[in-house]
Amino acid sequence: MAQTLIAEDIDLGALWDDPYPTFARLRAENPVAWVPAAGHFFLTRFDDVVHAERNGEIFNSTAPESLVHRVMGHAFIRKDGDDHAADRRQVMPAFSPAAVKTRWRAAFQTIADDLLDGLEPRGAGDLFTDFAAPMAARSLVEVTGLATIAWQDMARWSQWMMDAVGNYHGDPALAARGAEATAGIDAAIDAMVPRLTAEPDGSVLSVLLSAGMPMELIRANVKVIIGGGQNEPRDAIAGLAWALLADPAQRALVAADAGLWGRAFEEYIRWISPIGMVPRTVSRETELSGVRLKPGDRVALLFGSANRDETKFDAPERFDLSREKSQHVAFGAGPHFCAGAWAARTQVAEVALPTLFARLPRLRLNGPVRCGGWVFRGPLTLPCAWD
Ligand code: HEM
Repeated sequence: MAQTLIAEDIDLGALWDDPYPTFARLRAENPVAWVPAAGHFFLTRFDDVVHAERNGEIFNSTAPESLVHRVMGHAFIRKDGDDHAADRRQVMPAFSPAAVKTRWRAAFQTIADDLLDGLEPRGAGDLFTDFAAPMAARSLVEVTGLATIAWQDMARWSQWMMDAVGNYHGDPALAARGAEATAGIDAAIDAMVPRLTAEPDGSVLSVLLSAGMPMELIRANVKVIIGGGQNEPRDAIAGLAWALLADPAQRALVAADAGLWGRAFEEYIRWISPIGMVPRTVSRETELSGVRLKPGDRVALLFGSANRDETKFDAPERFDLSREKSQHVAFGAGPHFCAGAWAARTQVAEVALPTLFARLPRLRLNGPVRCGGWVFRGPLTLPCAWD
């Protein structure tokens, strides 16, 4: 008989510190658990998460009342079916493997080289703030086509929008910063439209203008790409560097074989998934792992837990470049599969990390590193020294 088990004891603060013991318990005992503290059913098993991802007509992304909609507008991340596919088709030329190879790879390399020119003589620093964050933000300035935005504003505005999107308790300060961020982005879009209309350049704004997407949708979709394109590559750059610096045996593997950088990146985002959760709304009665879900139920697809499912990965808590089964869901698994995945792989695994470790061969940790988050998760600092 279908039943609902309530996970009353789940404390979101403890989840932020370290969600993995709770996820392991839920996977074993209560894989589709109602979590009152979050107001969502938590889907913690790999197969359930993939099932929900692939069945968007039951597990809907559309949410007109959502904060994403209110802060950014009607972006494609909160659409389903043909509506979603139509917007996504117009966005993707900016993110295709060919675009990444012919256009963005060289731009990412110039950014990494420039950052390391500045870092090399310093001998020590926090590579989270001094390398990972500017690498991600300057790359995002290039890819979006918003050349008038300083990278510091890009990083800040992305964060402020995401804070406003998570502002369920209605904090007026967070709402005001979200509004400041979206106004700044709108002004940058207005400044670039004449230039990119006259001289298209393959950037997100440029391809959307060429496709004739209505301006209101362009604004929403550019914002969602800024919201999704900053923290994840930043956290993957800092997190993968930390994983390798903390484990000399794993570092030796990539030092001996540069062909392993791609695998190292995929293994890092499996191990600590930068996007740990995406929400969906159930549209019709259905059953998952013996639990009945009804229309209107909110479910949380926990990529951070699915990627540690012991039925899919041996010793999932280990960062291990030699694992054989490594098909993760850190980029999602259905129609919303990360639009920026090729750009992220190239930015992180082909450019940022290989360049960092080649330019600073005696790079080492210079203090403790702490991770935080469960909706989004990554290192909070990366104190390092080199010579
Ligand atoms: C390590 C880096 C990254 C990770 C781990 C990541 C992960 C994800 C995940 C889990 C989703 C949701 C998938 C789903 O709901 O099925 C997503 C969607 C998305 N990502 Fe990424 N992402 C990364 C980098 C980027 C970058 C660099 C960009 C753009 C510059 C980007 C743009 C997007 C967009 C636009 C979507 C929405 C796609 C849609 O709804 O169709 N992401 N990403």
